[in-house]
Amino acid sequence: MDIVVFGATGMMGSRIAAEAASRGHNVTAVSRSGRAPEGVDGQVTAAVGDASDPSQVADLVRGADVVASALVPPRDGTDPRAPLVQLYADFLSGVRAGGAPRTVIVGGAGSLLVAPDTRLCDLPDFPAMYKPEALAHAAVLDSLRADPTLPTWTYISPAPEVGPGERTGAFRLGIGDELLPDASSISAEDYAVAFVDELESGAHPRERLSVAQTAQTGN
Ligand SMILES: NC(=O)c1ccc[n+]([C@@H]2O[C@H](COP(=O)([O-])OP(=O)(O)OC[C@H]3O[C@@H](n4cnc5c(N)ncnc54)[C@H](OP(=O)(O)O)[C@@H]3O)[C@@H](O)[C@H]2O)c1
Repeated sequence: MDIVVFGATGMMGSRIAAEAASRGHNVTAVSRSGRAPEGVDGQVTAAVGDASDPSQVADLVRGADVVASALVPPRDGTDPRAPLVQLYADFLSGVRAGGAPRTVIVGGAGSLLVAPDTRLCDLPDFPAMYKPEALAHAAVLDSLRADPTLPTWTYISPAPEVGPGERTGAFRLGIGDELLPDASSISAEDYAVAFVDELESGAHPRERLSVAQTAQTGN
């Protein structure tokens, strides 16, 4: 498949690019710097592009089978909600203009439900430093669900703790908004396995998924 990854030099995006390339896909790795993602072997072409510019996005995704986004909200201390919603509006407008059929999005964990009306980020012990980013991701998910005319998307939340680790290939996949039982962590590598599975299959259009450690591995 031809896969275009936005945010491909980042912690999450580089692992998605690496996983996709390792499966033999042709990967275009986009960031504003245009650097090649680290740790990637295989068919990867680094490209310069700004996801906030619909015409650049359209040119980059034209002919792609599927698009991946590991874009980030601003992390400069300002409220990231409106900027991230706007970034996704511009980005998906470019995806539509370029005619790519599907987009899979790296989301946040904070908006997963721990009780019927309670999100993880509503709990008093949710780390304050992550709350603005969690709320920004929640706002993006709301905006995706509010507009049925958007190009097809799938939104995949990692477990609350995610970082570089081991690729075990073992994880649990949740479908819907509920935090999986005892979900605490996932390596970025195993998250990328689940993410590329969805890139390949397109099995969950317009759905929210989550990825967490298995009870056995505890990764
Ligand atoms: N548990 C959780 O909920 C959890 C944990 C970790 C991460 N995440 C989410 O995962 C996503 C990725 O995080 P990360 O830590 O991998 O981020 P990161 O390491 O900072 O990487 C961000 C990537 O996006 C690119 N980028 C930023 N703005 C762009 C734009 N306008 N156009 C094109 N590329 C752009 C960056 O490259 P350039 O700067 O060169 O453009 C870089 O490649 C974030 O949305 C984050 O909130 C969630």
